[in-house]
Amino acid sequence: MHRYRYREQELYCENVPVATLAEEYGTPLWVYSRKTLEDNYKAISEAFSAVDCTICFSVKSCSSLGVLGVFREMNSGFDIVSGGELHRVIKAGGDTSRVVYAGVGKTDDEIRYAISHNIMMFNVESEDELANISRIAEEMDAIAPVSLRLNPDVDPKTHRKTTTGKKENKFGIDLAIAAQIVNNIRDYPGVRLIGADVHLGSPINSPAPYAEALEKIVPFILEHRSEAAPFTHMNCGGGFGLFYKDEAVPTFKEYADTIVPYIQKLGCKLVLEPGRSMAGNSAILLADVQYTKTNGEKTFVIIDAGMNDLIRPAMYESYHFLWPIITDNTPNWNGVGETPADESKLIPTDVVGPICESSDVFTHDRPLPPMQRGDTVAIFSAGAYGSTMSSNYNSHPRAAEVLVSGEEWAIIRQRETWDDLIRLETGI
Ligand SMILES: Cc1ncc(COP(=O)(O)O)c(C=O)c1O
Repeated sequence: MHRYRYREQELYCENVPVATLAEEYGTPLWVYSRKTLEDNYKAISEAFSAVDCTICFSVKSCSSLGVLGVFREMNSGFDIVSGGELHRVIKAGGDTSRVVYAGVGKTDDEIRYAISHNIMMFNVESEDELANISRIAEEMDAIAPVSLRLNPDVDPKTHRKTTTGKKENKFGIDLAIAAQIVNNIRDYPGVRLIGADVHLGSPINSPAPYAEALEKIVPFILEHRSEAAPFTHMNCGGGFGLFYKDEAVPTFKEYADTIVPYIQKLGCKLVLEPGRSMAGNSAILLADVQYTKTNGEKTFVIIDAGMNDLIRPAMYESYHFLWPIITDNTPNWNGVGETPADESKLIPTDVVGPICESSDVFTHDRPLPPMQRGDTVAIFSAGAYGSTMSSNYNSHPRAAEVLVSGEEWAIIRQRETWDDLIRLETGI
């Protein structure tokens, strides 16, 4: 449950009217709710408490230092996919012994950096990579803990661009090849094979794909477990759903009820890498209406946030609830259902950004209250794969970020300037 509510006619984040933040810092502006992040972390920890579980927040989903700091304070681990993300975790004061590292293309420098910080384990995505990690660890006189990221060829029934556990995806290792690797593990003296892992895709709005994958992986582990490959950890990745529109999203307990019995059967530790379900509903993106216009039948509202800020609608056709932050037509947006306000006053509207691309669109003919220049809108459920995927496309500076906690707030990322855009460039 998130902490954004309309009180009377005005949107609040926790106990702060978000209009105050837009006034102080300008727009576009990312606003995060600390309490929402904390509630989400507590809820998942509790749901999986029947087993020894390390929650590793997926840094790629929301990588701001301020947000990582909230997870550090909750004693979270971190799931990373690059040396840059490890750098962020370290700068945020995270515990590197609770870091797991996935990704198909880890470079030598990244591997060295991770070994030197004693991460919990590498999630290895190919035999080539295993050989390379072993070689580098030997050079460093270290033993690198690893898990094999398995590709169980399971369809998570999500967007094709965010499916990762099927045979045609680049991620993970086919089970037959993984079996050969385990049998030959003594050929890689620089590594210690302690785990298996799987990440099927995102979001997965049903526990069933996890069961389907574990039905394949559990027998694999039981068959191949040995002193040289103890498989003390099973990492089930991320992928837990988030309410965006009208999806039936399982609770953490429902996912746990499916996953936990498999972990108990294995008698091992569980690792999870949740991102979207931790950060997604923690943030909104605030944007000001610049202009409005009609083209024949269509009404356009042009806002100052674009696909460079929040790319998900352009990239995945994803839905984000959007509403003015001050309104006499208050929506019932509580994260479990969207009850339309007074529908008679709504008009079909395309809310679009300033970027010179036809895909820079947040709503298509969506019934919304009439808006005018100077109004501010909130784009909801924008915390995961939001600011972290933002870019400078069309040379727009990246937006500022604010973390709200109760009645207080702090800026956690300054707004970029036009000079920042060219800071690393040299003209000729
Ligand atoms: C390896 C890995 N782990 C965890 C995640 C986080 O997934 P989610 O944000 O759906 O929880 C991702 C994202 O797709 C991922 O690639």
